[in-house]
Amino acid sequence: MIILGMESSCDDTGIAILENGTNLIHNKIDSQAEIHSSFGGIVPEVAARQHISSFGNLIQELKDKNLLNEIEGVAVTKGPGLAGSLLVGVNYAKSLAYSLDIPVIGVNHLSGHIHAAWINNKVTIKFPIIALLVSGGHTELILMKSHKEKILLGQTRDDAAGEVFDKVARYMDLGYPGGPLIDNNAKLSKTKKRTLPVTNIKDSLDFSFSGLKTSTIKYISDIIDEYGDLEDHTIKDICYNFQDAVVQQLLNKLMFAVDTYKPQSIIVCGGVAANSHLRFRINDTFKTPVIIPSPSLCTDNGAMIAAAAYYENSFQKKSELDLDVYPSLKLEQI
Ligand code: KG4
Ligand code: ZN
Repeated sequence: MIILGMESSCDDTGIAILENGTNLIHNKIDSQAEIHSSFGGIVPEVAARQHISSFGNLIQELKDKNLLNEIEGVAVTKGPGLAGSLLVGVNYAKSLAYSLDIPVIGVNHLSGHIHAAWINNKVTIKFPIIALLVSGGHTELILMKSHKEKILLGQTRDDAAGEVFDKVARYMDLGYPGGPLIDNNAKLSKTKKRTLPVTNIKDSLDFSFSGLKTSTIKYISDIIDEYGDLEDHTIKDICYNFQDAVVQQLLNKLMFAVDTYKPQSIIVCGGVAANSHLRFRINDTFKTPVIIPSPSLCTDNGAMIAAAAYYENSFQKKSELDLDVYPSLKLEQI
């Protein structure tokens, strides 16, 4: 089946065409990072309005390339995310499906992140799976017994990992989104030393990042108080120090989940899974096969939405022309 996937839960407008859940025919992402960068974070109304023009251009491109004729169904993110941004995507998707006389289906964004693992993937991913989903809004450990059966094992009790990357970067005036900027600066650290604390919530698969956020900000402000400014090499060392503390906590909990549930496969996904240090540490740690989507499929995109719809057999349901949006949708809700 050839599915058009549409994503607009936050600040990326994504459109992709995916064949049989794995073969990527077309994949375009229009990022709004530059627009929001000047505000230091996402402005919801600006994001929603920007999705309107981005989808217009991206759909025109599909038409120009004669790609619309091939599509058999439209899958669109219905939540979680920003209500205004979701509404733009859902309404574009419904109009497009109606005019092409094909079905439209709403998809859970979190399931999309996990299903990115099947795109262009050469190995068979066996169940049960332990998935670590780390994004700007979520940090979750999930036991997947099948494509549809997902059990939440643990989640962050405060900030999400990506959110903390963005906040620490903002405190150092590095720009938005902070994750890739911290990643790149950390690579250039000469000391590559961690002194910041790795949080551990005992006997639990839950995470916590707000303590690390506060310690990092205090560490930075102490340096500024003492030296008046942050030198370039100090920024790189702080980025490594902070990033390693985040990665170590993610790794510790993933190891705990793998030891407890003994899965056949491990998936690591979501925007923070694009982090080079996390990818390296994870690939270096486990005997169980690990699948981490390519960095561009870790951050928000339309292909993952098409993949989730395909594997969850969503098109067996009736077309959802009355589809609404669900800003607080949970992982377990298909
Ligand atoms: O999955 P995503 O694109 O959107 C959400 O669903 O939230 O994740 C965005 C988050 C942002 O917080 C961003 O800073 C982070 O992913 N991110 C990274 C990297 N690339 C994106 N964090 C660490 N290292 C990266 N290379
Ligand atoms: Zn996302």
